[in-house]
Amino acid sequence: MSIIYLNGDYIPDHEACVSVLDRGFIFGDGVYEVIPAYHGKLFRLSEHLQRLQNSLDAIRITNPHSPQQWESILDELIAKNNVDENKGGDLSIYLQVTRGVAKRDHALPPDIQPTVFAMANPLQAPGKTDLQAGVSAITRDDYRWLNCHIKAISLLPNILLRQQAIDADATETILIRDGEATEGAASNLFIVENEIIATPPKGPFLLPGITRDLVLEIAQQNHISWEESTISESRLRNADEIWITSSTKEILPVTKLDGKPVGNGQPGSMWHKMVDLFQAFKQSLR
Ligand code: PDD
Repeated sequence: MSIIYLNGDYIPDHEACVSVLDRGFIFGDGVYEVIPAYHGKLFRLSEHLQRLQNSLDAIRITNPHSPQQWESILDELIAKNNVDENKGGDLSIYLQVTRGVAKRDHALPPDIQPTVFAMANPLQAPGKTDLQAGVSAITRDDYRWLNCHIKAISLLPNILLRQQAIDADATETILIRDGEATEGAASNLFIVENEIIATPPKGPFLLPGITRDLVLEIAQQNHISWEESTISESRLRNADEIWITSSTKEILPVTKLDGKPVGNGQPGSMWHKMVDLFQAFKQSLR
């Protein structure tokens, strides 16, 4: 049993109820965030809250809380879940804001209260095997919409595309739109060529990942060459290294793409370097 937050209350998950008329349930009309909490401390909170604000603005929902209010809501959620359930381990905080409850109508209803929900789940660090051997990925056509920068809860294309990876015994599906790789079904994409890190530029075709930005920040601070550039399918297939990043996966090396080895088929030296710097960055915040 875990304690969730719903519209001002902290309650056991099995007691929490949302109306069937909630527009999140009816239309997928809402946005979300996933924020890691390491040792009880929210990681990159202000960046996540800024992206939440951007997503809310994009779908015309007024943010129900100030950043300070969000912080205290989530801190209390962590406090309530960190003790018995998770023995003080790391957590993944999921929060979502939906437009609220209204009679079903496509038109945006005026003056309704957004539904605010948050939960805390144990955060599993990437497994040793995945880190030592790397993971497999497949490629598929990116048939999602043209607003992938919004962190919308309507994830049907993402889950169907991700499932294709699972069906193929792979970890992630890397998406290709008009000959260019955009991101993973639930992660951002990096390649390494001649020790230069590259990731596609931000825009409507991908989510501006918080982990992505941090990787670039760490590269910058440590004089590692990086660029934001479009990644054609042939660049992807010929890359020395491929990585995927997210708040829950951190930085994972992809060592097999569509059944073929990436580079020498092992996690690459740039990945080793970046992952060490990333872990050191996390430690420095303790
Ligand atoms: N997803 N791109 C997509 C489509 C994503 O769903 C995610 C993360 C990312 C990485 O963003 P970040 O580094 O901010 O986590 C990129 C989360 C973890 C999820 O849906 O569970």
